[in-house]
Amino acid sequence: MRIAVFASGGGSNFQSIVNATALKTLSAEVVLCVASRPEAGVIARSKRAGIPVYILNGTIEDNISELVNVLGNHKVTMIALAGFMRKIPRDLILLYPDRILNIHPALLPEFGGPGMYGSRVHQAVVASGSLVSGATVHLVDEEYDSGPIILQETVPVLPTDTAESLAARVLITEHALYPKALQLFAQNRIKLIDRKVSFIESQKS
Ligand code: GRF
Repeated sequence: MRIAVFASGGGSNFQSIVNATALKTLSAEVVLCVASRPEAGVIARSKRAGIPVYILNGTIEDNISELVNVLGNHKVTMIALAGFMRKIPRDLILLYPDRILNIHPALLPEFGGPGMYGSRVHQAVVASGSLVSGATVHLVDEEYDSGPIILQETVPVLPTDTAESLAARVLITEHALYPKALQLFAQNRIKLIDRKVSFIESQKS
């Protein structure tokens, strides 16, 4: 499996995916980093790892043919959005059917949807009084945060938590969860029935 990671920020999830490929807990290769802005911290990480970077100049819609060419040139078979702050247009979703994943720093379908990103998510969780939050890896469709859920893991919300302290605890869980979800795809263990996921047992050799 040949992964392109799309990111807009610091890229700690990008790094966890790259690390998992190096450790061989993820049987895949990160072949491309797509960054939505030239200052994104993920760019330096990608360069350090020797992974080519494509910087989007504007929206995906504005650059769709160039982006599709770049993805094709790198023979990308899987796209992992990791803190990517641009809408994924229908054309790209149709080109990579059920092959675009996203990670969300809460337990979807709660605390997701338009405007629910970054610290807003954790602020809403803390304000709700919920005792658990977590991370969700899901497939991307045309609505925000609404595609089939692949994996989730819970994280406790402590009485003393702020959005920042909760975000930091959730992020640690994200770093383990995203490579695990990608590995299910790498091993062809995901089956979707009525847009709900089921797991195929791994083959013993
Ligand atoms: C993560 O919390 C992810 O869930 C969210 O954006 C953040 C990205 O962090 N979508 P990083 O850039 O991977 O460190």
